[in-house]
Amino acid sequence: MKTLSDAFEHTLQDVYYAENAISKALPNVIEAVSQADLKKALQHHLTETKEHISILKKVFKSAGLEVKGEKCDAIEGLIKECDGVIKEAKGAVARHAAIIGCCQAIEHYEIARYGTLREWAKAIDQPEAHDMLSAILDQEKAANHKLTNLAVTTINKA
Ligand SMILES: [Fe+2]
Ligand SMILES: [Fe+2]
Repeated sequence: MKTLSDAFEHTLQDVYYAENAISKALPNVIEAVSQADLKKALQHHLTETKEHISILKKVFKSAGLEVKGEKCDAIEGLIKECDGVIKEAKGAVARHAAIIGCCQAIEHYEIARYGTLREWAKAIDQPEAHDMLSAILDQEKAANHKLTNLAVTTINKA
């Protein structure tokens, strides 16, 4: 990795891997949730996550890069932690708050990656990629905000 373009390509591959891993992990999280609003929010974000995968394919293409994933240890760790919480808190009402905590760690990871990537896209003169990455970033922020709202208005108290 010698140039900013190299770093951009590597990180794009990393987040592409992460989005695919999240789309595979989310159904299990949704299954573990019985609180209706949280279930709905996670189902909605699964749909968005699948959209992120297709937008990322377009980002690769617009930057003239091959669509490729690169194993991301960070997301593997966050997903593993979430699976562990689901098992340990099985059946407990408090699992909903715990699951929100895990999902927010994942959203923050994505927010960090997309924030970095879109600025790098601008710096390496890829305005189209910048706009597509910004659109994903906005959805990640909205998803995170929605989870905060659910936690502080009802779920933490329950
Ligand atoms: Fe995403
Ligand atoms: Fe997300």
